[in-house]
Amino acid sequence: MNRLVDLPKRALDLFRSEEEDSNRSANPSFMEVLDARLSRRSILRGGVGTAATALLGGLGMTACGGSDDDDDDGSEAPAPLTTLAFTAVAKSVADVVSVPTGYTASIIYALGDPILAGATAFKNDGTDADFDNRAGDHHDGMEYFGLSAAGQRDDESSTRGLLVMNHEATSQGNGELASAFVHANGGTNTLPRPAAEVDREVPLHGVSVVEVTKASGQWAYVQGSNFNRRVTPLTPVELSGPARGNALMKTKYSTAGTQARGTLNNCGTGITPWGTYLTGEENWAGYFTRGAADDAARGDRSVVSLQRYGRSQGAASRHGWETGGAADQYARWNISKSGASTDGSDDYRNELNTFGYIVEIDPYDKTKAIKKRTALGRFAHESASFSKLAAGKPLAVYMGDDSRGEYIYKFVSTANWDAADAQATDRVATGDKYLDAGKLYVAKFAADGTGQWIELNIANAAIAGYANYAFADQADVLVNARLAADAVGATKMDRPEWCAVHPTTGEIYYTLTNNSNRKVEPSSGSQMAVDAANPRSYKDSYAGGAEGSAGNINGHIIRIAETGGEAAATGFTWDVYLFGAQSDADATKINLSSLTADQDFSSPDGLWFSKNTGLCWIQTDDGAYTDVTNCMMLAGVPGQVGDGTEVTLSYTKADASTLAITTRVGKKPAADTLKRFLVGPKDCELTGCAETPDGKTLFVNIQHPGESITSANVANPSSYTSHWPGNAGYGAGGATARPRSATLAITKNDGGRVGS
Ligand code: FEO
Ligand code: CA
Ligand code: CA
Ligand code: CA
Repeated sequence: MNRLVDLPKRALDLFRSEEEDSNRSANPSFMEVLDARLSRRSILRGGVGTAATALLGGLGMTACGGSDDDDDDGSEAPAPLTTLAFTAVAKSVADVVSVPTGYTASIIYALGDPILAGATAFKNDGTDADFDNRAGDHHDGMEYFGLSAAGQRDDESSTRGLLVMNHEATSQGNGELASAFVHANGGTNTLPRPAAEVDREVPLHGVSVVEVTKASGQWAYVQGSNFNRRVTPLTPVELSGPARGNALMKTKYSTAGTQARGTLNNCGTGITPWGTYLTGEENWAGYFTRGAADDAARGDRSVVSLQRYGRSQGAASRHGWETGGAADQYARWNISKSGASTDGSDDYRNELNTFGYIVEIDPYDKTKAIKKRTALGRFAHESASFSKLAAGKPLAVYMGDDSRGEYIYKFVSTANWDAADAQATDRVATGDKYLDAGKLYVAKFAADGTGQWIELNIANAAIAGYANYAFADQADVLVNARLAADAVGATKMDRPEWCAVHPTTGEIYYTLTNNSNRKVEPSSGSQMAVDAANPRSYKDSYAGGAEGSAGNINGHIIRIAETGGEAAATGFTWDVYLFGAQSDADATKINLSSLTADQDFSSPDGLWFSKNTGLCWIQTDDGAYTDVTNCMMLAGVPGQVGDGTEVTLSYTKADASTLAITTRVGKKPAADTLKRFLVGPKDCELTGCAETPDGKTLFVNIQHPGESITSANVANPSSYTSHWPGNAGYGAGGATARPRSATLAITKNDGGRVGS
C-alpha cells in the first residue's frame, strides 16, 4: 500500500485528536535530574524482586514485596502460560479477521443488533432507528460477568454471562457532522441538524449490557434477556463522592448538582472485585460547543478550567447536536453561559463538569443507580484497573488520561479490603464504600528508574497556591485534576491509554500510544522534550522512502512496581516493557525491544491481563503502520520491572551538540513470549478484551472498520474501505455491506485455553 492510502486515516486521527492536546503547563522534563541516576543494581535492591523470579513461577509465586499469595479473592488460581504455542499471524491489509491456525473467531454482536424484545432485525441500510433498543456503535472496552443457570451472579460460569461493553463514538467523515453509516444518505452536515438525526445518533453512544450463552460450542447473544439494556447519554446517572452537590456541578438538569444526564465517549473499562462494571469517559469535551464570547460572559476561573479541558470559547461541537431543537436534551450540548443565575442552575454552563469520570454500573441489576465516582478524578479516562487484593489493606485503582502530554493517576481507597465484600449483595453500596472516599495521586517519573505518587490534595501548598487557578475546595481539585496535577509537576506522558495489573506480580502496565508532540528540541508550548520515561522522538518511514515528522510514532508500554508491592505506596520503580516499532527500524534508536516481523506493532492502546492464563493482551489503534498492516492484537508473557537493561539514546541537536537520554528497556521478548495473535479488518482498531473464567473463550471488539468515510460516499459501497462483517457472512448486506463494529468470540478448536 502506498502512503496516500493511509492519509484519510491519519487525517481522521488528527480530527479525533483535536481535544487531545491542552496541556500547556511548564512541568519539567527529566533533564534536571539526569545526574541523579542510581545504578541499576541499587534499583533492584529497592524491593521489586529480581529478574530470576520473572516468568518462571506459578501464580502463587513470591514476586512482590516478599509476601506470599495475598490475592485474597478466595479463588484457586489456574496455572499461567509461560510460552505461546500458536503460530504468529502475519501482518495483513486484507478486509478480514485473521487468527492463528487452530482458532476460530465468531462474530456475535454487531452495531444495530436488536437486544430488546420486539426490536426488528438490523437492515444496515441507514433506515434503522431506535438504537436504545440495539447495539450501539464503536464497540470498545468490555467485561464478562458470569451467570448461573438460575440467572444469578456466578463468577465461575464459562457458558453463560453478561457482556458489558462501551460504545465510544460513531464513524463520521473528516470535518463532517453526521454519523455517516446510520443515515440512508449519510446525514446532514450543515447546521441545524435535524432532530430525527440527532435522536438516532445520541443513543449510538453509551454502554450495552447483553446476555451471551454458549450452546453446542457456539456463542450467541440472547435477544430479549431481562438483563439486556442500553445506557446512553440520556440515562439518569447519580454523581457520587466528594463533588456530589458541589457548586461546580449545578445545572438546569440538576439544580442541586447531584445528577448527570448520561455517560459519553466511553472507552476503557474496569471490573470491580465486587462484581460491577466501570466505564471511563474519554473524549467527551468535543461533543459540546461554546459561544465565541463566552469567556467575557463568564469572567471567572471557569474559563481556565474549560481551556485546560479542551473547550476554548468558540469551540464547535463534534456533531452539532445542540441544534436539534429547543428542548433541554439538545440545549445541554451548548455550554455557554446564557442564564441570569449566579450558580448556573438555569443553563448548562457547568455541564462539562458532569463528564470525565469513572462510572460504576451494576450489570446484574438494572434497578440500581448508575454512579459517577468523582473521587477518582475528572479527565479523559481510559481503563480503571485494581491492585492485587490484600485483606485489611486499601485498594488502588490505576488510571490514565489519554491526551498528548497528560498524566498517569491512581486512587487509593480509605476503606481497607474486606474479602466478604467480594460477594456483597448490594454491589453499588460496596462501590460507595471503596470508591467514594480516598486519595487521588498523580505520577512523577524520575530518570533514575524510580518515581513518586503525589497526592492531589487542597492542603498541598503547590495546589492551594497555584497561580493559574484558585481551587475552592477538594472537590474542585478532583473536578480539575489536570490543573492540580499541573500544579505539582506531574510527568507529561505519551498519551496514557489503558492500564492493566499483572495478576501475579501486581505490577501495573500502561500503554502510551504515541505522541506527535514529543521532540528533541520543543519549539512550541504544545511540544515536550524527550525524557527517560518517554525517550523516543524519530521520524516514521514509509514504503518508498518518505519520512514523516518526528515524535514518538509507535508508542510504548511502561510498567510500574509499587514500593514493597503495596497499593498505597507513594514510591515506585519503572521500566518499559515494550517499545512499539517496525521490525526493520534502527535497533539502537527505535526498535529498542528488537521486535521481529512476528511481533512488531505500532500504537498500543487496549491492554488486558488474563487472570486464567496470565497472558498480557495488547491491542493497537494505529495510523502509522497502516500502510503495511491493519490494527492487531498480540499476546505477551511479560517478565517484571528491572529484568532488562539501561539504554542510552543519543540525539543530535540543531547546534550539533549531543543530547543523551538514558531509559530502561525490559527484557527483550523471545520468539515464544510475544506473538501477533490477530489482525483486524481494514480501518479498524482492536479494543476490548474479556474472557470466560476457564480461559477458553476470549471476547474481543473490532471498532470502526471502514471509518474513512464521507457522507457523500455512503451511496457508493465501492468507496467503503471495509465491508466487514457483512463480507464475512454476518447480517444484511453481504459483500457490499456498510461496515459495523462488532464483538468476536475466539476459541481454540481443540477446546484448550486461548494462547496455549
Ligand atoms: Fe478511546 Fe484513548 O482510546
Ligand atoms: Ca481506543
Ligand atoms: Ca487510541
Ligand atoms: Ca511506517
